[in-house]
Amino acid sequence: MSESTLTIERLGAVCILTVNRPEKRNALNAATRRAFLEALEACRSDDAVRVAVLTGAGDKAFIAGADITEFAGRTAAQQYGASRMPSVYQAADEFPKPLIAMINGLCLGGGNELAMACDIRIASASAQFGQPEINLGIIPGGGGTQRLPRLVGLGTAFKLIYSGQMVDAAEALRIGLVDEVVPPAALRERTLALAAIIAAKSPVALRLAKEAIRASVRAPLDEGLRHEQGLFALTFATRDKDEGVAAFLEKRQPRFTGE
Ligand code: COA
Repeated sequence: MSESTLTIERLGAVCILTVNRPEKRNALNAATRRAFLEALEACRSDDAVRVAVLTGAGDKAFIAGADITEFAGRTAAQQYGASRMPSVYQAADEFPKPLIAMINGLCLGGGNELAMACDIRIASASAQFGQPEINLGIIPGGGGTQRLPRLVGLGTAFKLIYSGQMVDAAEALRIGLVDEVVPPAALRERTLALAAIIAAKSPVALRLAKEAIRASVRAPLDEGLRHEQGLFALTFATRDKDEGVAAFLEKRQPRFTGE
């Protein structure tokens, strides 16, 4: 397991997974995704783990999205191939125990999508949220087009995904993107207190409750996710994606042409 990109901490029945690339705002690269999948599997198969918590290292970011450097030069066919690989978003969604996102800072793109795939989101008052993919000439590809409207409604999902603009924690709470906002210094204590309450419940009842709640959106969600993957891969066939990613890497504004 890659301890460098993801750290694992056990506190009684609670397991805290911390994405550990603070210098890259905890952007999800291939190694981090692999480590997260391995860590979730370890939590799943260990009966002593009752609840898992996902967070980011440092005080700036929860997860600032997919690692954009991995998008440069990637073709549509390669992206479509990548979308057939095990998905961190699906793994979080299907993880059979309670999974809490402890959102300590920037929660963007794939980070917001991963938080949305968790069961409960507790945010620091200093966290910021957004789906900035449109600024790169692409669309959310980690379930954002499906989970965001389910959480916040169509209009707000359109606004966030079309504009790529960020919202603060108070607004995220107002629109239903997060479930609770606490002062930054209280985030860990509050999240662990909730995790401890949940960890004391029957693991079987928790598992069945999760299965039932997930089933309330499951069938149409699967269909929507497959559709999203095709469209996400398609954005990798555009010049606008090459331009958007290149502009980010070169630290300049993109010039989109619609090609
Ligand atoms: N992928 C790859 N690298 C990223 C990243 C991402 N999603 N987000 C941040 N980084 C890197 C930056 O390139 C920078 O690297 P460098 O020090 O080698 O130049 C480092 O993390 C720090 O980022 P910086 O922009 O200097 O920090 P900031 O606090 O001023 O801004 C963000 C943070 C998150 C607002 C800004 O980095 C950003 O807009 N990132 C892209 C977010 C995004 O589009 N995510 C969706 C991807 S699909």
